[in-house]
Amino acid sequence: MSYQVLARKWRPRDFTTLVGQEHVVRALTHALEQQRLHHAYLFTGTRGVGKTTLSRILAKALNCTGADGNGGITAQPCGQCKACTEIDSGRFVDYIEMDAASNRGVDEMAQLLDKAVYAPASGRFKVYMIDEVHMLTNHAFNAMLKTLEEPPGHVKFILATTDPQKIPVTVLSRCLQFNLKQMPPGHIVSHLDHILAQEGIGHDGNALRLLAQAAHGSMRDALSLTDQAIAYSAGQVSEEAVRGMLGAIDQGYLVQLLDALAAEDGAALIGIADAMADRSLSFAGALQDLGSLLHKIALAQAVPASVQDEWPEAGDVRRLAGVFDAQEIQLFYQIANLGRSELALRPTNTRASP
Ligand SMILES: Nc1ncnc2c1ncn2[C@@H]1O[C@H](COP(=O)(O)OP(=O)(O)O)[C@@H](O)[C@H]1O
Ligand SMILES: [Mg+2]
Ligand SMILES: [Zn+2]
Repeated sequence: MSYQVLARKWRPRDFTTLVGQEHVVRALTHALEQQRLHHAYLFTGTRGVGKTTLSRILAKALNCTGADGNGGITAQPCGQCKACTEIDSGRFVDYIEMDAASNRGVDEMAQLLDKAVYAPASGRFKVYMIDEVHMLTNHAFNAMLKTLEEPPGHVKFILATTDPQKIPVTVLSRCLQFNLKQMPPGHIVSHLDHILAQEGIGHDGNALRLLAQAAHGSMRDALSLTDQAIAYSAGQVSEEAVRGMLGAIDQGYLVQLLDALAAEDGAALIGIADAMADRSLSFAGALQDLGSLLHKIALAQAVPASVQDEWPEAGDVRRLAGVFDAQEIQLFYQIANLGRSELALRPTNTRASP
C-alpha cells in the first residue's frame, strides 16, 4: 500500500478522538442528542485545528444510519454504514465540500443553491461545507443570504474560515458560531506520542516538544513535520534529528554563549560564533531565539513557576536564572533585540550569514 501521510491517516473520525475543542464537541453532542439542530454552522480557527475534520464528523452524525441500517441522527456515528464510510473516504454524494478560495463568485454560489432545493440522493441531509468562506465575493454572499436564513429542511450549511473578520455580519448572524482553539503544545506532544507509538516508530520526548513548538498550534503542521522527521531520521524520531531537520538554532549554542558570558570567556564566545557561522546558522534567527531565551530566564527569576517542564530548555532556563542577576539578563535582552534591528547596518559581512 502506498504511504499515506500521517495527517490524513490520523484524521479523527468521531468526536471522542478529536483532540481539544471540548467546548465545541460538547455543544454539538448536546444538540445532536436532543435533535435541536441548527441549519447553519460556522467554524472559525487557524489552519490545522480541526475545522474540516469536525465538519465531516458532523455530516456523519447527521446522516449515519447505524451498523444495522436502523439508526438515526446520533452523536456517535457508527463508522460502518454507507454514509459514514463514504464521508470518510470523500465519496458521499450528499456531503459537498466547496473551497471558496477557488469558487468565489456568484455563479458558483447560484449553482450550488439551485441544487440545494432537490432532496438528498442517499442521505438524510444534504450537507454543504464551504471552506475559507471569507473569500466569497459580496455578490456570492448576498446570493446565499436567503437560503442561509431559511434553507430547505434537508439542507445543512457548514461554513469554515481562518478569517471571520471578513465575513459580513448578515451572514454571521445567521450561523451558530464555534471558535476552534489553537492546539496547546502539551496536547500536540501527547497526540504525537500516541500516533508514533501506534505506528511503531521510536521517538523521544524532547523531539516531540520541538515538533510541537515548530507547529505553532496547528495539529496538521505538527503531523507534517513529523512525517518529515521520520523521513529525515530514517525512522527514529530523536531530538538530534529533529533539531537538524528544523534547522533549529540549536538552543545548545545559545546556552553555551550564555555560559561563556558568565565565565567572561571572550575566546570561547568567538569560538561559538564561528561554529554557528560554519553551520550557516542565521544570526538574525539566533538573536531572536536568544531574546526569547533571555525573556524566559528573566521570567524564571521573577516568577519561578513560569518555567514549564515541557520546554526542552527548562533545565537550562532554571540554571541560568541563578547564574546571572536580573539587571544583567535585562541588559543582554536589550542587546539581543537591538542587535537584531541593527543587523542590516553591519559594516562587514565576513562571518554573518543572512
Ligand atoms: N483537533 C484535532 N485533533 C486531532 N487531529 C487534528 C485536529 N485538528 C487537526 N488535526 C489533524 O490535522 C489534519 C487537518 O485537520 P483539518 O480538520 O483539515 O484542519 P482545518 O482546521 O485546517 O480544516 C487532520 O487530518 C488531523 O490529522
Ligand atoms: Mg480545512
Ligand atoms: Zn454510520
